[in-house]
Parts: sequence; C-alpha cells; structure tokens
Amino acid sequence: MASFQVFNQTTGDRFSCQDDQSVLKAMEQTGLKCVPVGCRGGGCGYCKIKVVEGEFECGKMSKAHVPSEAIEKGEVLACRLYPLTDLTIECLPQPAAGLSNRQTKTTALR
Ligand code: FES
Repeated sequence: MASFQVFNQTTGDRFSCQDDQSVLKAMEQTGLKCVPVGCRGGGCGYCKIKVVEGEFECGKMSKAHVPSEAIEKGEVLACRLYPLTDLTIECLPQPAAGLSNRQTKTTALR
C-alpha cells in the first residue's frame, strides 16, 4: 500500500492519501473540505474536482456528471478518485445551473 501527498491549490491544504483510499475520504479524515458531498458513490456529481497534476485512476462515475472529455481535462469525482502519484487538485465551483434546475423541479412538484 502506497501513500501519496495531495496538494489542494485552491485552499493551500496538503494531505496524505493512500492508493486504496478515495481522495474525498482522505480529505475528510484530515478534517478538510473542498466540495459538497452527496452520495459518496460517483452518482450525484457534487464532489467534482479537477486534477491539475499527477496520475490517478477512477472508480465508476456517472457519465452524466463526468463525460469522458471531462476526465481528459482532469475533472473527476473526488469520491471515486484514487492517486497513483502525488496529486495537485483544484476545487471546482458548483454548477449553479444544476442547482437551480433542481429548485425549479421541486417548485414544479408542489
Ligand atoms: S459524493 Fe456523489 S459523486 Fe461524489
């Protein structure tokens, strides 16, 4: 089992992440926050971050939230992100359009 350093260039935080541990879990165990957390299973898209530097692999992620062209740009879900080297990450702003759509749907159901 290997351990890598993750540097969050948005917040300036650094934390350790083991290769069998998701970046989200490692971040939370260190008491750090970067993005909202939802399903923890690659389905809701809330925990999307950007890997700026480093090698990684991903577990299964929703293609609706992370199409393959996004993965090529390093945009992945932290709950499904596993480091293969030290990583530099960025917190991504949450998609306001997605949140407002959700509010619109909720309103429409009432
Ligand atoms: S918390 Fe839902 S995709 Fe990561």
